[in-house]
Amino acid sequence: MPSRIAGTGRYLPAQVLTNAELSRRVNTSDAWIRERTGIGQRHIAGPGEQTSDLALAAAREALAAASVTAAEIDLIVVATTSPDMVFPSTACIVQDKLGAHGGPAFDVQAVCSGFVYALAVADRMVADGLARNALVVGAEIYSRILDWNDRGTCVLFGDGAGAVVLVPSAKPGILSSHLHADGRYRNILCVPGQVQSGAVTGTPYVQMDGPGVFKFAVRVLAESALEALAANGMTAADVDWLIPHQANVRIMDATARRLGLAHERVVSTVDLHANTSAASIPLALDVAVRDGRIQPGQHVLLLGVGGGFTWGSVLLRW
Ligand code: UT7
Repeated sequence: MPSRIAGTGRYLPAQVLTNAELSRRVNTSDAWIRERTGIGQRHIAGPGEQTSDLALAAAREALAAASVTAAEIDLIVVATTSPDMVFPSTACIVQDKLGAHGGPAFDVQAVCSGFVYALAVADRMVADGLARNALVVGAEIYSRILDWNDRGTCVLFGDGAGAVVLVPSAKPGILSSHLHADGRYRNILCVPGQVQSGAVTGTPYVQMDGPGVFKFAVRVLAESALEALAANGMTAADVDWLIPHQANVRIMDATARRLGLAHERVVSTVDLHANTSAASIPLALDVAVRDGRIQPGQHVLLLGVGGGFTWGSVLLRW
């Protein structure tokens, strides 16, 4: 049986860091950040908060919205690049904190495409009968892997989590998913550090070729969208809401322009959340569901792109 999203949820840490505050720490300005990225502020996790805590809070909201209890969840997939620890997976920690023991739980590491990857995998597992009620979360604490002296990266990212509950459905919700990666581009966006014999070797902070990432993202987001539409016999005119990875408003606008999609059809939360990597798409989805923009029967196209390089789409009927 196909799957559909039965409920969504989100969590943003209480602390908000504005562009104005950032410009007192590094040589930047509110005007530069807004003009080049569309970002106005970001949320920052508190010292006692872990990625699993953010995921848990978002998951609880999604479960309530779906009217599914934690005990009924038999699959947990967490997309994250900033896990609580090397192992066990953040998904296993979330499972324990939720009290939903027994079903499979694992993390997906596809950086900013992580949620699209996780949703695609969970959808197939529900469709194949390997799970009935799946919890899929994107959760990140990027503030801990940023060099706060590097204005080229520290202004771009934020912390947060978004979650959905997938259930089997006679009427398909998820219509298609398409995933891609090209490891030849792995160095244009990476955190190369590794834990080795008790010490961190290599830089444990985000390294990025900004313009290189920008060009790559615009190209593959548009290609992904066209691939999804062609597979479903649809055109851009059939898309009610486009929810691309929330990296930069200029990347989102350029993608919409390439598709001939009106600006108003693009859900954007980058001004308030910044780039929350694997959490950005489920955060934006939850915002648009809860404010009533996304209505039953509408087509929603999720587009992910991120380090790896990875990219892909999930097309759904709400
Ligand atoms: O999930 C994917 C994550 N990554 C991304 O989304 C990044 C994609 N790339 C981008 O969003 C853009 O490339 C950036 C926002 C990172 C940069 O914008 P840009 O228009 O490509 O600027 P640029 O890198 O070409 O830099 C232009 C100037 C440079 O100064 P000079 O060399 O022209 O004097 C930079 O040093 O802007 C300078 N600059 C800044 N100035 C003020 C770079 N960062 C900042 C900053 N504040 N925070």
